[in-house]
Order: sequence, then C-alpha cells, then structure tokens
Amino acid sequence: MHHWGPQLLMGGHGVIQRYRRFLPVTDETCIISLNEGNTPLIESHNLVDAIGGGFRLFVKYEGLNPTASFKDRGMTLAVTKAVEKGVSAIVCASTGNTSASAAAYAARAGLTCVVLIPEGKISYGKMAQALIHGARTIEVKGNFDDALKLVRELGLRDDIEIVNSINPFRIQGQKTGAFEVCDSLGDAPDMHFLPVGNAGNITSYWMGYNEYRDQGTSSGLPIMMGWQAEGAAPIVEGRVVERPETIATAIRIGNPASWKMAVKASEESSGHIGTVSDDEILDAHRMLARTEGLFVEPASAAGIAGIVKSKARGKIPDGSTVVVTVTGHGLKDPAIAIENSNTKSLVVESDIQSVLDAIGIQ
Ligand code: F0G
Repeated sequence: MHHWGPQLLMGGHGVIQRYRRFLPVTDETCIISLNEGNTPLIESHNLVDAIGGGFRLFVKYEGLNPTASFKDRGMTLAVTKAVEKGVSAIVCASTGNTSASAAAYAARAGLTCVVLIPEGKISYGKMAQALIHGARTIEVKGNFDDALKLVRELGLRDDIEIVNSINPFRIQGQKTGAFEVCDSLGDAPDMHFLPVGNAGNITSYWMGYNEYRDQGTSSGLPIMMGWQAEGAAPIVEGRVVERPETIATAIRIGNPASWKMAVKASEESSGHIGTVSDDEILDAHRMLARTEGLFVEPASAAGIAGIVKSKARGKIPDGSTVVVTVTGHGLKDPAIAIENSNTKSLVVESDIQSVLDAIGIQ
C-alpha cells in the first residue's frame, strides 16, 4: 500500500530513502531529494580490450544524477540537514559541480544559495546551472582554495550553512556510491579508481566500503586508486600547490580539504594516489567516448587515465574486478569536447551529391 504523504513526495526515491539505515535521519526528517543516485554501473569490454585486456571493468556513470554529477548524493543529505537545523541559506566554494548541485537542491528546499567560484575557471554548463537555479553567484578573483577560505569565514555565522565536503553530511551522503557498487556487483570490487580534487569522494567511497564490510554486506575492501592532475597534485607532491593548473577545471585544487582522509584511504587499502597529465586526461576523455559511448567531463576522465597508466605499469592483476567512478557528465563542458574530438563538422550545399561527396561515397 502506498502512502503518498508529504515526506515521500518531497523525499522521492533518492539515496536517503534507499540507504536511510546508514544515514543520520529519522522518520520525522523532511527529505530534500531530486531522486539522485541509482546510477548505472556499466561493464566496459571495449575499453578493456583497447588497453590490453585481462580484467573486468565497470564504469559508475555519475553524470546521470539530477544535476549531472556525483555531488547530488551528498547534497541531498547536506540540504536535508540544513533545513532540519532551520537555516535560511547555504554557501559553498566550488569548481562548478558542487555549486550546481547546491543551487538545485536549495531551489527545491526554498533556501537561499550563495556560491563562490574561481573567476573564469568553471565550465559553461556549470555556470548555467548556478544561474538558472537562482544561486547568488560570486566569481572570486582567485582559485578554489581562496574561495573555500572565504566560505569557512562565512560559515561562522549561525544563519548560513556550509555545504562543501567539510560538512560531514556531504561525505555521509556520498558514501552511498560505494553501497550501490557493492549492491550491483554482489560484493566489493578488487580495485576502485576515481579522480581526486578536494578529496571528499575518495574519503566517502572508503567510508562506504568499510561500513558494508563491517556489517557483513560485502566480504572485502577494494584497493583505492586516486588520480590528481599533474599541475594540481598536492597530495602526490606532499605540499600545497599555490597555483594549481589543469584543463580539468573540476579538480584544479591546490589544498584539498579532505587531504588526510584521502591519504588514509590510500594507505589503509594498500592503494595509490598518482598523477595523470592533461594529455593523458584528454586521451582518456576521447577514448571512453569513442570505445564505450560514455561522455564524461575531463576531470572524470582522470580516473580512466589512471587505469590506462596502471595497466601499462602492470599494476592491475589479471582477473581483477575494477570499478571506476566517472564523476560528471560530458555536457558540463562542451567546449573542451568539441576541441578534443579531433574532428570537425562539414558544411555542404543542400543537395544529395554534395552530401555524398562530403561522406566520401559514390
Ligand atoms: N570530478 C568532478 C567532475 C568534480 O567536480 C570533482 C570535484 C571531482 C572529480 C573531485 O572530487 O573533490 O571529492 O575529490 N569538484 C568539486 C566542486 C571540488 O566544487 O564541484 P573530490
């Protein structure tokens, strides 16, 4: 029997409803959801063949979340808890996806949303999302790390809640990504690859895998393999990067908030946090689109580039089950996709012979 009560209508069938026994909510909690999560885990034979075979690869396609990135998993809980607390506004610093998600969930909840983004350094699609959802959008003359510093100051006020991943509810919500992977595969994978920026997601997945293992739903833990862009690799270099640079603007971060937790995930899992170059990211971006029909944004391709690199170095044992989280949809950044496609559209006269000539058939 269905109960179409207000909570279900607001809560929908998102990650809080599905995994509520693992999350800090009660029956009274009014859930703010856009039906996030439940994204496909897609087995990708073609890509594995293209890089030498020997293992099974599953792509967790997070671009199919409501605002087209994995951030929605944590944002549903952060905004739900902000409403429960009674604040009237939320704030975040962002390279574009957190702000897109915060703006959408704030709209849903009727909260004011303030987003601080690095001037000129977020992709077109993400800017569109902040603006269309009505977020007060502030471009800071500085990078993400500068913006996050300002947000930490704003968060000292009682009436405004920070929804960056320094808010623990973000990490709690995002751990549902690991739950879904285990639920789909029937157990934890052997290895889990993902991009690392502010380092919240690797922290979340590690938490999720551990909780499932501890309560017996899965039998083991994956080796965690995190990937930073070469020009923005503070964790790999062991020092704050003052001027991070990469084509993958989503992970253009020099001083990640969850730095220590990311190192912990890597060490406890006998994993690795490494770097990939912008060229390797772009190759992976195109390769995934060409071999599997999966369109992601450049930062998301960092995990794919990490797989290519690890395979070439013999770090993926034959017979392994490998999962990679591709974090955001390709349409977030169409300008890069057009540039990186290495092909052009052809303009022809509107007659059949011109079209045949252009295709190159008689
Ligand atoms: N991939 C995408 C598409 C991202 O937007 C981010 C982070 C990451 C990977 C890295 O995840 O920070 O948890 O290590 N984007 C944040 C933002 C910083 O503001 O949207 P992380």
